[in-house]
Amino acid sequence: MTAIVTATDLSQSYEVRRGMFQKPLDLRAVKEANFVVEEGETLAIVGESGCGKSTLARMLTMIETPSEGVLDIDGVRVSGKDKGDVKKLRSTVQIVFQNPYGALNSRQKVGTIIEEPLKINTNLSSAERRRKAEAALAEVGLRPEHYARYPHMFSGGQRQRIAIARAIILEPKILVLDEPVSALDVSIQAQILNLLADLQERLGLTYIFISHDLSVVRHVADRVMVMYLGRPVEIAPVDALYANPLHPYTRALLSATPATRPSDRGERIRLSGELPSPFNPPPGCSFNPRCPYANERCRSELPVLTQHGETKVACFAVDEGRLPPP
Ligand SMILES: Nc1ncnc2c1ncn2[C@@H]1O[C@H](COP(=O)(O)OP(=O)(O)O)[C@@H](O)[C@H]1O
Ligand SMILES: [Mg+2]
Repeated sequence: MTAIVTATDLSQSYEVRRGMFQKPLDLRAVKEANFVVEEGETLAIVGESGCGKSTLARMLTMIETPSEGVLDIDGVRVSGKDKGDVKKLRSTVQIVFQNPYGALNSRQKVGTIIEEPLKINTNLSSAERRRKAEAALAEVGLRPEHYARYPHMFSGGQRQRIAIARAIILEPKILVLDEPVSALDVSIQAQILNLLADLQERLGLTYIFISHDLSVVRHVADRVMVMYLGRPVEIAPVDALYANPLHPYTRALLSATPATRPSDRGERIRLSGELPSPFNPPPGCSFNPRCPYANERCRSELPVLTQHGETKVACFAVDEGRLPPP
């Protein structure tokens, strides 16, 4: 296995003004994230809305520069002191967004939308661009005559196919999929997930698949990273995560998803309380105010990801062996 993405203490802060006369506040959307993505795998990233998934996606696709930490993609250092040739990577990582309605310019024809990355990043002639665009349409299950149509003539699922065609046209190695099926009807979701699985196999793609839906993730992921308030709290192979979730937050997420409840033995953790404000995270483990196993140490010290079997988890209750079986 070769790591194609390595994130080391990757962080992102935003300055947010909440009133005209107030000092801007520092919102830390992603904090010291440490993880790798292996070539050819699907790493799923899950967590509640606001936990930093899209911020991470924007750093991984180089739409945003991290405020701290180091990111290496396909052998190139993207951030940090000794940045490499980031330009070289522009075509290596592409993104597909959640909203198939907002992501496509409604005044452009499908062909123009799909060819745009080629126009920006290559010197191909218009005939060559067209040939590639039609090939990309075929890859995603659309027809050549769709080239000249406008996005409003397509359903949500078809629009997501158009977005995927645009994402693969530069022959990337990595696709970041930010909630790619969350806006689609359940019946359409399966078609898009099947298409993504086909493309991954045929094109040898690496996927970073972001979702808040654990029942979707179970079917697509090789490994899963669970985030809470800007930090990865558990990273595990998919089977280990669903059979033996360790972090109390992961357990709570799973027991809130009927299709993924590990079993009816043991305690069911209910998520009580709100996600704390990112402006004012609690000291110690961010999950401690909602955690049934929190003790004094959890309220004052920050747990870091630690290997337990196949799983990495940031939890003192696990480290100290005082977590009951799932
Ligand atoms: N451009 C931005 N400026 C200020 N705050 C932001 C910005 N983007 C995201 N945030 C904040 O960062 C946190 C993480 O957001 P996001 O990455 O969108 O989470 P998710 O995708 O998991 O829902 C949230 O508190 C959000 O309000
Ligand atoms: Mg998001």
